[in-house]
Amino acid sequence: MKEKSIYEHLKEKGLSRRDFIKLCGTIAGMMGLEFAPPVKALGKMVHPDPTEMVAKALSSQPKLPIVWLEFQDCAGCSEAMSRSSSPLLSKLVLNDLAIEYHETLMASAGYQAEKAKEECLKDYYGRYVLVVEGSPTLAEDGIYCTVAGKSNLDLLREAADGAAAIIATGNCASFGGIPKAKPNPTRACGVGEIIKDKPVVNIPGCPAIPEVTTGTILHFLIMGKLPETDHLKRPLVFYGHTVHDHCLRRPFYEAGKFADNFDGDRARKGYCLYHLGCKGPITYNACASLKWERGLSYPVQSGHPCLGCSEPNFWDGGGFYQGQSAALIPPAAKTSALAAGAGLAAGSTLAGINSAKKNRAKKALASAAENSPTDSTTAAPPEKKEE
Ligand code: SF4
Ligand code: F3S
Repeated sequence: MKEKSIYEHLKEKGLSRRDFIKLCGTIAGMMGLEFAPPVKALGKMVHPDPTEMVAKALSSQPKLPIVWLEFQDCAGCSEAMSRSSSPLLSKLVLNDLAIEYHETLMASAGYQAEKAKEECLKDYYGRYVLVVEGSPTLAEDGIYCTVAGKSNLDLLREAADGAAAIIATGNCASFGGIPKAKPNPTRACGVGEIIKDKPVVNIPGCPAIPEVTTGTILHFLIMGKLPETDHLKRPLVFYGHTVHDHCLRRPFYEAGKFADNFDGDRARKGYCLYHLGCKGPITYNACASLKWERGLSYPVQSGHPCLGCSEPNFWDGGGFYQGQSAALIPPAAKTSALAAGAGLAAGSTLAGINSAKKNRAKKALASAAENSPTDSTTAAPPEKKEE
């Protein structure tokens, strides 16, 4: 028997055609519209209407089964997802796309829950999306994170085997996150370090922005493949810009107006947080454009410097609340802003750090300048203006 489409399921639940089209428009908007490749129509190459594309996919595709595993984590990504700023979208993913197994959110527990997962892995073999939250652990064959008597390594390999695609959500699943912080006794790592034979996409963040996880799942559902990614396997549509690129404090940065402490007049005026350790210039994430809590705010808007939570090694990379210097910048970051940051460090911040760090900073400065792309998003940081 032909499986019902997602639209048919939604219709049965009382969703009107008008609301369905609205939902498709929201999904298309959130996916950035860039996903639709041009098609030939009337002798011209035109981009198809993305809302129509989404509507067509949801009207023909059956539910997408999702298996959501959790390893070493705080469940913050699930928590964020359940409080998503787009209730309609998270509801769609949580209820209507069929999350078949999710340890934290599912009603069943124990044997009943494990049976549901077992059946899902068998019935939907080759079709389900595996979402992993939390870092897998390598030490002693993964025994430090064990669920239902199985090590996380066995659980991950077993679920990855029949997955059509794998999404690592949060910094822990993407790069090891906080569990990987020194001395890392469990040998925590990212999912991509273990699963090499399947497409894995990373949605780093602490937590991941729920709309980004949702958008990536929907991209797979609608386009039949994972979105295009950067060198760290992050979807370009969400991680193609730095926090700094779209930061609302950016005009202050350009004008050389920087806050120098958290409760001073400059901070109250909303000045740039660069000298308080903001890593926005070297952090790729969609916080400044998508924001959190229904578009209410994001860390920098609320007065807190970006800590770089969507970059590898963000915890051990340190430098929190310290003026940016090349010595503190994560090695993976290669932006013109890195050179900009390093330039600023060489000019002013280095005065406050010890000589070993200064030497490391000088070396990093030289390498940052070499690695910087020419299509810079920002020039060298402006001189700090005194008032
Ligand atoms: Fe915003 Fe930070 Fe960039 Fe300043 S350095 S403009 S606070 S992202
Ligand atoms: Fe993380 Fe920076 Fe956004 S700390 S939540 S990437 S503003």
